[in-house]
Amino acid sequence: MKTQMSAVLAGLALLLAPSTSQADQSIEQVYEVYCVQCHGLQRNGTGVNVPALSVKPRDHTDAKSMSDTPDDELFKAIKEGGLAVNKSVLMPTWGHVLSEDQIKGLVKYLRQVCKCGK
Ligand code: HEC
Repeated sequence: MKTQMSAVLAGLALLLAPSTSQADQSIEQVYEVYCVQCHGLQRNGTGVNVPALSVKPRDHTDAKSMSDTPDDELFKAIKEGGLAVNKSVLMPTWGHVLSEDQIKGLVKYLRQVCKCGK
């Protein structure tokens, strides 16, 4: 039963991310689990939580504003939350849920999403 379940999950992951490598796929899954409800399935700041938020989540597809934000600020914002980078407290703190490597992976992933770099 357990193996059946993981086979189903693995299949689902393949369906959701057909064109990315294995490593990217797991980071993409982290984003799908922890970030989409605010940042949106399209990564553009239109998650289901948006009507309840007084500050709009960052549009991660916006190359202009994302390229103005250096990697170390993205890292800090994800690890320590919005307040740590003088942004809204509505951006949660992830340092107790995600490892440093996962957060680094997310920063790299966000650079793919915005197709921009710093
Ligand atoms: C509860 C809603 C919520 C969740 C969940 C959430 N965010 Fe955010 N996030 C926000 C909001 C709101 C902002 C905008 C803060 C501002 O502009 O003041 C933001 C901003 C950001 C920024 C920009 C920080 C900056 O310096 O401009 C990054 C990067 C980010 N989020 C990444 C993530 C990642 C990665 C995840 C998943 C691990 C995540 N967020 C999950 C609400 C959320």
